[in-house]
Amino acid sequence: MKLAPSLLASDLSDLMGALDLCKAGGADLIHFDVMDGHFVPNLSFGIPVLECLAKRTEIPIDVHLMVSNPGRLLGDYLDAGANWVSVHWEAAPHLDRLLDQIRSAGARAGVVLNPATPVEVLVDCLGSVDFVLLMSVNPGFGGQSFIPYVLDKARRLRKMIDHRGLDVEIEIDGGVDKSNIRQVVDAGVDICVAGSAIFRAADPVAAMGELRRRGLNKD
Ligand code: DX5
Ligand code: ZN
Repeated sequence: MKLAPSLLASDLSDLMGALDLCKAGGADLIHFDVMDGHFVPNLSFGIPVLECLAKRTEIPIDVHLMVSNPGRLLGDYLDAGANWVSVHWEAAPHLDRLLDQIRSAGARAGVVLNPATPVEVLVDCLGSVDFVLLMSVNPGFGGQSFIPYVLDKARRLRKMIDHRGLDVEIEIDGGVDKSNIRQVVDAGVDICVAGSAIFRAADPVAAMGELRRRGLNKD
């Protein structure tokens, strides 16, 4: 299991401090949520912030684009140092082209599905992605509750991937905490994003350790 702390829940006045916590906690990826106030109601951070952070960490940055028309600035996110980039299926009518663009830039290409979008829409393009990000909350805000039916989506997606012998990772995002991470991993998820469960904990480094232990069935 990989752990991807979501910076959205960190102290935004101290993003460098958040990167240090991620390093100390052994984060596998740093989850960077881009919100445009259009595809989702909220705004977060964009290209200049990504550019600064990418220069300050060795940990790969996982850019989750919650934006309408993701193709418009995709090249700029890639140039700014995104190592993993995911675009929402719901926002990308020309998804195949965007996935190609991400991979051509040497980054890992992902597609994101909102909770209500069935995994079966990926039947044709699954071979063109490196990872699928399943939203387990409706995107736009941190600190929401995990939607349990997404576990069944993860199980169905795992079957689709394994049945075809593909090398595609499943990531999940939203409401993941120590109470549900074991179920999430058991459902076939490889990468867990966690915002509040890490950065709102009294000790974020210890929280990362506990999530990892519980996810790996070690207590
Ligand atoms: C929600 C974002 C998430 C968010 C997760 O739209 O995509 O990455 O930061 O935060 P938690 O873990 O608090 O639900
Ligand atoms: Zn996210």
